[in-house]
Amino acid sequence: MLNISDNYNVANFYHKGTIQPSFRSNIQKSYDIFTRATVTKNATCFFRGDINWKQFCKLILKTFKNSEKANIVCVPCSDGSEPVSLLLKLMQFKEYRNKPEKFKQIKAYDIDEKQLEIAKSNKIPLLNDLSELVMDNISLFFNARKGAGKNYFIKDNCLELADHLKDKIKYEKGEISEVVTNLPKDEKVVLLARNVFPYLDDFFCFPRVMNALSKLKSGSVLAIGDYDTAKIPQFEKMIEAKGYKKTKTKNCFIKL
Ligand SMILES: C[S@@+](CC[C@H](N)C(=O)[O-])C[C@H]1O[C@@H](n2cnc3c(N)ncnc32)[C@H](O)[C@@H]1O
Repeated sequence: MLNISDNYNVANFYHKGTIQPSFRSNIQKSYDIFTRATVTKNATCFFRGDINWKQFCKLILKTFKNSEKANIVCVPCSDGSEPVSLLLKLMQFKEYRNKPEKFKQIKAYDIDEKQLEIAKSNKIPLLNDLSELVMDNISLFFNARKGAGKNYFIKDNCLELADHLKDKIKYEKGEISEVVTNLPKDEKVVLLARNVFPYLDDFFCFPRVMNALSKLKSGSVLAIGDYDTAKIPQFEKMIEAKGYKKTKTKNCFIKL
């Protein structure tokens, strides 16, 4: 279990999977002209509970078992919670740790520069549920702070991603339909395109993403989120119509 310090108040953790406005409450609201509801567009959290992270990592490792290169793309990444969750979970697998040449970088994109700025700070607020992390050697994952006594790893109520992991995620500004259209077609890709589809316009972005999905190489994996299926009727069927099959891992599809 994660053991940061005796001082650490576990009660401060949000309940696992609780969706919160992203880090530092940089809340981005928008008004839905059809439902007249206000929606928080950048809600995210570490280890968002609509995917089984362990199973998902196993699926990723299987996907790239015989590949020289692993293309892992996360769009949108919001404040970085999602790609960091994935990286930290993957780090628990020796098949990932032992193949740095294969697993070079997770590519993470968002359209919102403020979110990307937060992501690039590599800070992980303690208000997130990190109980997914089982680790013997915490300094493998987080930077130690010199002279900070008991809260050795904590500063401003945050953990900081270890320096050696910082370049394992590359953040860039990117619009999802552009990013997905430009993914390689001749190599397998694992694409996290989660909890974003309801925000895409019906006339350009949404059909452009769906069209690009149909062109990914067989064996590629697509991960979506509960918000996508909750808001878009028959969304899973739409994905299947683009040549995908549901896997045993919730919210994950494989390209046939
Ligand atoms: C609800 S968050 C999802 C974050 C993360 N994937 C997750 O599941 O927790 C939605 C994010 O989508 C981004 N976004 C909205 N429209 C986008 C677009 N067309 N291209 C890229 N990012 C977009 C927003 O900036 C926001 O950070």
